[in-house]
Amino acid sequence: MRKKIVAGNWKMNKTMDEAKALLSEVVNMVKDEVSGDVTVVLCPPSIYLTTSRQYIPSGGRIMLGAQNCHEKESGAYTGEVSASMLKSVGVEYVIVGHSERRQYFGETNAQLAGKVDRVLENGLTPIFCCGESLDLRENGDYVGFVKGQLTDSLFHLSAEALANVVVAYEPIWAIGTGLTASSAQAQEMHFEIRQHIADKYGDAVAQDISILYGGSANEKNAADLFSQPDVDGGLIGGASLKSRAFTDVVKAAQ
Ligand code: PGA
Repeated sequence: MRKKIVAGNWKMNKTMDEAKALLSEVVNMVKDEVSGDVTVVLCPPSIYLTTSRQYIPSGGRIMLGAQNCHEKESGAYTGEVSASMLKSVGVEYVIVGHSERRQYFGETNAQLAGKVDRVLENGLTPIFCCGESLDLRENGDYVGFVKGQLTDSLFHLSAEALANVVVAYEPIWAIGTGLTASSAQAQEMHFEIRQHIADKYGDAVAQDISILYGGSANEKNAADLFSQPDVDGGLIGGASLKSRAFTDVVKAAQ
């Protein structure tokens, strides 16, 4: 179901004590200050997921998310974590195909299709990331590129399964750079993504999907980005590491 979502991707940051402090601050601030209709997803490093679960009240607006999982269900894949393991410790959302995973770990669209499948089979919600490089934005068919990412990793799904996917549009040139897409640029791509889904699955399915924006979104620009008709919230990196900034982003979405 389409809903407003703000997800915090902590990436490879925070020690255990710092993670605990940030969790309790965010949980308390969200409880005290957020009353509107917005779902919050916290995605700490996997080593902190079990502990994080204890800080997040079950059945509330805050969900626990992982930053990645493996595309196989189990087996001899040293160092990896499966979707069923994530489920077993109370994870609810999984980021799939973040551009840093694609860039530094060579994750391919086909591999990401497998990850999406494992996440869905385990009853978890994938946050599927897509987005173009600066070179493509300036010199290429960036809309076609992003559509291709969706086609290759999501369009094998049934309409019923796709309804459980959250999409995050994250232009690579905006991630961690301080260069946010303008709200018009975000809206253009979110509209194209929704249209692409509509072309394959029909308008009703497309209108029901949450599409988040990511890339240097923060407490200052979030309200403008989230005011766009096809922007349903954000995937927040840097600004999710500070409780005040992150809570203000959440408030901008409600
Ligand atoms: P950023 O990261 O907000 O630090 O740009 C966003 C992301 O990578 O999800």
